[in-house]
Amino acid sequence: MTRFLAVVNPAGGTGKTTTAHALAVSFAEYGQRTLLVDCTSSAYLTFLLGVENPRDTTFDLFQNSSFAESAIVSTPERFSFLPSDSRISYLDQREKSLTEIANNFKKSLANFDSPFDFVILDTPSTLSHTWMATLLLADFHLGVTTAALGSVRGIIQTQEVVDALLKSYGPSPYWLGTLPTQSSGDASTLELLGSDSKLLSPAIPRSSSVLRAELSGKSVLNNDNSGSVAVAYRELAYFLLEDISSKN
Ligand SMILES: Nc1ncnc2c1ncn2[C@@H]1O[C@H](COP(=O)(O)OP(=O)(O)O)[C@@H](O)[C@H]1O
Ligand SMILES: [Mg+2]
Repeated sequence: MTRFLAVVNPAGGTGKTTTAHALAVSFAEYGQRTLLVDCTSSAYLTFLLGVENPRDTTFDLFQNSSFAESAIVSTPERFSFLPSDSRISYLDQREKSLTEIANNFKKSLANFDSPFDFVILDTPSTLSHTWMATLLLADFHLGVTTAALGSVRGIIQTQEVVDALLKSYGPSPYWLGTLPTQSSGDASTLELLGSDSKLLSPAIPRSSSVLRAELSGKSVLNNDNSGSVAVAYRELAYFLLEDISSKN
């Protein structure tokens, strides 16, 4: 069974892309067949991973249920990757319903010869139709926040949207918790989060190794393998895999 995990916060700069990438690397290290999906129109992850001018992208799989297997890129970091491009913003014209987008994507992946254990979705930093679709198609949500107030508010907004809207589409996705990232001590704003946001620990520390890793095109897990950020992400991945497996 393939599990779909969305890394979410509709505020920008909260650490979603860094976390989604780190989880793909650690899940692959733990032997999980993992697909990392760029669901954003800025396609920053696609840029970071050095994929240029991809022909088929996440947009095509959201738009049609016919799967273009050639869209999947193998990475040296041992996970598979589905790149994005700016066309994904066309979905915000709402010509396709949330359910159609989610079903197209799942049907496309179901055509794949050997299924993935995990699909990790790097989601947009906007409360858009595309954002909603990524939330709808995920079975598991992981919130990611810095201590900035706008970022904490993004988690609260996400939980409100999930409660208010997604319920009407079927079983609610499971909230894995909220991961504090870029942590450097004072985090009093995190106290604004209720207990149902399930604050996770350890927090991911702030470290310049993340920027250095971005410049190298690799995850911080590979670029600074035993640094504090890599250790914290591996611990998170282990916890998430345990938590997810206990849900079946
Ligand atoms: N643990 C960290 N320490 C230092 N910088 C970080 C850390 N995590 C992310 N960053 C930096 O913060 C910026 C935003 O991170 P990103 O993952 O792209 O956020 P989002 O996808 O939510 O917009 C990036 O420039 C990244 O290098
Ligand atoms: Mg991002």
